[in-house]
Amino acid sequence: MKTSYQSIVIIGATSAIAQECARLWAKNGARFVLVGRNEDHLRAIAQDLTTRGAQHVAVSVADLRARDAHQAIVDASVATLQFIDAVLIAHGTLPDQKACEESVDATMDALLTNGISAISLMHRYATVMVGQEGGEIGVISSVAGERGRSSNYTYGAAKAAVTTYASGLRARLVDTGVQVTTILPGFVDTPMTAHVPKGFLFASAASVAKRIVKAMEARRDVVYVPGFWKWIMRIVRLVPEGVFKRLKF
Ligand SMILES: NC(=O)c1ccc[n+]([C@@H]2O[C@H](COP(=O)([O-])OP(=O)(O)OC[C@H]3O[C@@H](n4cnc5c(N)ncnc54)[C@H](OP(=O)(O)O)[C@@H]3O)[C@@H](O)[C@H]2O)c1
Repeated sequence: MKTSYQSIVIIGATSAIAQECARLWAKNGARFVLVGRNEDHLRAIAQDLTTRGAQHVAVSVADLRARDAHQAIVDASVATLQFIDAVLIAHGTLPDQKACEESVDATMDALLTNGISAISLMHRYATVMVGQEGGEIGVISSVAGERGRSSNYTYGAAKAAVTTYASGLRARLVDTGVQVTTILPGFVDTPMTAHVPKGFLFASAASVAKRIVKAMEARRDVVYVPGFWKWIMRIVRLVPEGVFKRLKF
């Protein structure tokens, strides 16, 4: 696959999907800043990317729930890369919906991890990219953000916030040279879904990464991964609320 980005920041770089994206960019000799909370894992990924052709890989260790640390992460990545071609925001967790129902703190933590922290980073990188007069922000949201299901509406609410924020940010930046790509995966076979029984709707991290990298390089607005989720979600959105609220899924 032909890629062009030379300087890339990956937030949540230990994510299985993000790792596969990074491998595609590494082949082209890109330089990376990898941000995540597990230093050993980040260093192992950095080594792997270097072996695959990356020119330089720096790691930045942070728990992304700590919003106070975000500006320092952004500043350090700018200092390392100077001009940033692309940022991929990929961190997330799949919270236990039952635990969230029993604890408002668990709910707030899930919203912080999956929603607020991604928005804080989008906001900050948008400012950097407007300043450098160009760049691409890819943010991994989810089809779960399109409608609240009883089994995962806390996660869905966080992703809905990310999707809506990305949409508005893209509109604000339309004439600045900065593009925001909203990435909407369905089910992907990664550590996040290790406990979920696998069915035919599951895609591999490697296959979704190809589509994500292609969409970001093409500066697309919104991309469902795999593409058939666009049609599934069109149908899901058509179900009347009176029926939807009784569906146990
Ligand atoms: N898998 C799916 O079915 C699916 C579907 C739709 C959307 N998505 C989205 O795709 C993105 C990537 O997920 P994935 O499927 O690749 O799962 P994954 O391999 O489990 O990756 C999630 C990553 O987020 C990191 N993370 C979580 N909380 C963090 C925090 N507070 N600070 C720093 N890093 C944190 C995790 O780091 P640790 O390894 O240190 O825990 C992990 O590397 C996520 O945004 C997810 O919501 C996934």
